[in-house]
Amino acid sequence: MTAYWESTAPGAGRRPARADAPSDARVLSLNGTWRFRLAPTADGTGPGFVADGFDDSGWDEMRVPSHWVLEEFTPLAGGPARSMLGTAEGPLYTNTAYPIPLDPPHVSTENPTGDYRLVFELPDDWVDGTVLRFQGVDSCAKVWLNGTELGWSTGSRLPFELDAPVRPGRNVLAVRVHRWSSGTYLEDQDMWWLPGIFRDVELIERPPGAIDDHYVHADYDHETGTGTLRVDATTEAVVEIPELGIRMATGETARVPVEPWSADVPRLYRGTLRSTVETVELAVGFRHVEITGGVFTVNGRPVTFRGVNRHEHHPDTGRTLDRETMVQDIVAMKRANVDAVRTSHYPPHPEFLRLCDEYGLWVLEECDLETHGFIYAGWEKNPPADPAWRDALLDRVRRMVERDKNHPSVVIWSLANESWTGETFTVLRQWVADRDPSRPVLYERDPSYRDSDFYSLMYPSLEDLDRIGRRAEDTPDGVTPAEDERRRSLPFLLVEYAHAMGNGPGSLQDYRRIMLEHDRICGGFVWEWIDLGINAVTADGTAHVMHGEDIDYEPCGGRFNLDGLLFSDRTPTPALAELAKAYEPVRVTVGADGVLVDNLRHTADTSDLTFTWTLTDDGEPVADGVLDVPAVGAGGQGRVAVPVPAHPPRGTLVLTVEARTAADAVWAPAGHVVAWGQHVLAEPPVRPLPRWSDDGDRAPGGADVTLGPGTFDAATGRLVRLGDLALDGPVLDVHRAPTENDHGQGDLNDLASVWSATGLDRMLHRTDLVERADDHLRVAGRTAPTTHAHGVDWTMLWQPDGAALVLTVEVELTGPWADTPHRHRDILLPRLGLRLSLPSAYARARWFGRGPGETYVDSFEGSRLGTFDRAVDDLQTPYPVPQENGNHVQTRWLELTGKDVPPLRVDGVEGYPTFDFTARRWTSQDLQRARKPHDLRDSGRVWLNLDHRQQGIGSASVGPALPERYRVPRERTTWSVRLQAG
Ligand code: GAL
Repeated sequence: MTAYWESTAPGAGRRPARADAPSDARVLSLNGTWRFRLAPTADGTGPGFVADGFDDSGWDEMRVPSHWVLEEFTPLAGGPARSMLGTAEGPLYTNTAYPIPLDPPHVSTENPTGDYRLVFELPDDWVDGTVLRFQGVDSCAKVWLNGTELGWSTGSRLPFELDAPVRPGRNVLAVRVHRWSSGTYLEDQDMWWLPGIFRDVELIERPPGAIDDHYVHADYDHETGTGTLRVDATTEAVVEIPELGIRMATGETARVPVEPWSADVPRLYRGTLRSTVETVELAVGFRHVEITGGVFTVNGRPVTFRGVNRHEHHPDTGRTLDRETMVQDIVAMKRANVDAVRTSHYPPHPEFLRLCDEYGLWVLEECDLETHGFIYAGWEKNPPADPAWRDALLDRVRRMVERDKNHPSVVIWSLANESWTGETFTVLRQWVADRDPSRPVLYERDPSYRDSDFYSLMYPSLEDLDRIGRRAEDTPDGVTPAEDERRRSLPFLLVEYAHAMGNGPGSLQDYRRIMLEHDRICGGFVWEWIDLGINAVTADGTAHVMHGEDIDYEPCGGRFNLDGLLFSDRTPTPALAELAKAYEPVRVTVGADGVLVDNLRHTADTSDLTFTWTLTDDGEPVADGVLDVPAVGAGGQGRVAVPVPAHPPRGTLVLTVEARTAADAVWAPAGHVVAWGQHVLAEPPVRPLPRWSDDGDRAPGGADVTLGPGTFDAATGRLVRLGDLALDGPVLDVHRAPTENDHGQGDLNDLASVWSATGLDRMLHRTDLVERADDHLRVAGRTAPTTHAHGVDWTMLWQPDGAALVLTVEVELTGPWADTPHRHRDILLPRLGLRLSLPSAYARARWFGRGPGETYVDSFEGSRLGTFDRAVDDLQTPYPVPQENGNHVQTRWLELTGKDVPPLRVDGVEGYPTFDFTARRWTSQDLQRARKPHDLRDSGRVWLNLDHRQQGIGSASVGPALPERYRVPRERTTWSVRLQAG
């Protein structure tokens, strides 16, 4: 006989799926401390543990809800606490491959199984008719109450309910949870495998006459402003929405003028559904979702989602989240101008959706279904293509739709992620269409898109996205002309883009611009909201963030679970500021003659915003005021003049206009900046390049060569003193510590390997010429890697300029640049610039340019132009995997200061007004070598990189190659900077 955990049936003994809604029905939470014993196989501790009188006194204590692999085990019988982190018994991270043999529906005999026991007391006045609800158990659970088997279930991120014949007084609940089951084959999402009872367990009173299930049909007609409401229920009940004067029976329809629900104005009408014994709370949002003319609309207006993909994650508790953490996510999303969330790749805790209704987020809810690992068998036996799995798949979709059908925030159902094709998708789609005709259905991975109302892809290049916007995309292989024609008529939804792994992503603005240009594109969802790292400690007690590579297990998804806009502890990465800018719902374009306000919102006008202006001179505020911007309707545009006073500038005059919230909202206090724009009104002239002449005497110099405030080493030509500052450099630098995106995806776009194959990370320097003339010093040489014949010939021309030196660098890249093990003809440089070694006393940086966060040529628009002041140590972004970080583009001047060292000032000069800089206490090589942040040590120097140009960041870790325009071309280049100390 097939064991239940290896059966393709989804479960047995469960009650029909139904809506999840707060009600006054009595609930006894069974969350808390249970007894637990882990066993190596599906037999668990054996048959005895279900018995009433079973002695579990020697068992461990286990928090419920939790994942046992993240808990410390302290045996009740004594002994040391044990953590499974970092072991094959603990959390495992795989991306696409299954951690068990691909042998559906079977699993290995090695199948860690947790036996759970809870003894609870039933309140004396508890009425009969009880339901036991598990909100989520990973991956398969069998349940006994007082020794009687109630049923079993798979479908980890979905609830199941069982009739529970409780008895007065003492009750004993026993649950056996298998880490692996047939359900494992349907849950191959790119994430940690985290078994356990990880969501709430509840006992719910269900007296006769309780409302088992209800279905709120709330539609909106944007032409008339009328809302239509009908509530169906399994029990006769009264619907009351006092605010709308509605009091009617279930099954009746009311038509009333209403304000519609949208993500920007999440108007909810609260009410009740009352039967003789139970009152269910209603939170009704009226809205109408429709695809018309190939455009996705809500309430008659196109929607362009400003979305993110969200996994449920906490670095200590995994996918067990408390309400506070959910609110934290939503608040951070709203503040970053995110208005949509894809629940990748499973239904979230139901509370999250209640919060989305209330705070206002469009939700693309995805079913708990992914069979990605079948790719390793050429998609043989893929469950969606095998009728044996039909019930199991339908069960998942049904449980999602039934649970969440009443949420106005949910506007699209997604059948699955990355599960290739199969007839069952047609069955699923048909079931959804019958049960809920009010929402469209998405399935991204079938190239025919026959079971999807959207065309959708992941990670297209900018060019491809633009082509899609114009409905001019290429035809995918293997589809019929009829399928192709239908697909071309569909709206396009970008389920995943901008892979936020490590430093990055770049091009957020570029993607947004394209999305806004085409009505066909209903927006996109950045991958992904949060890094999925787990808090761990090394053997010597050092705290670190654990990722896939920290576990010795095959298969291993590597570091790909650290790809969020937030770090694992929910600190924003610099990408979040960039995203907030790209996702601005109101665009503020500042010009010399005024401000243009584009209201890109779906529903709301701008009357909730206050527009203020500030004039700064080299970062110092000189005047400000409030602008009187008449309310601009959604989709509209307005223009106002800014009364800027005449002000003779000292430095760069910048006019900044901000749109701030005028009143407190649930997600931000009044004054929150929603959008901003800047315009440079005046710039001081860039310092001219000093003249020089090639005439006059030249001399090779003695031991030291001096020029103006500078002293140079006669042999190397390096600057060793500038005024009172002892330093060393500059040397030509063409390398950076690879970012995750520089590593590309497998062999694809793996720039980092090309850089090391071509030796960019191991350059040696040779000086050929140090020649002093009257008004300049010329140093020439070559910087080249070990092994290779290619290199960079350079000339550095130094000129005194008052108390400063102006340096003009000329580089010529000498070939062949192709003679590498990789035979790459297209070797580009990560950076082209200079590196100086400075005393460690330098502790602060002040600069005028973009800031305060790190910026790159393809990700700077979220950082303002201004004067910033930061400690050198705070210029580092602590990526959990060390890599290039902390750059600043468009810097006009930089001043480094510290105790007992003269201030070092760097300025742009004529022709080269700006530069990039990074300053850190370790070299790029140290950064490249480090595996974890704690590997980075103060080298005793401050390393200052002044780049003519550094390449952009992109998102090639899972995505297209870095666009050409953000690269550093390998060509003859000249630039200048000015250095002054003291
Ligand atoms: C997608 C997948 C995500 C994640 C991402 C890369 O293919 O849907 O779950 O794996 O790529 O991080």
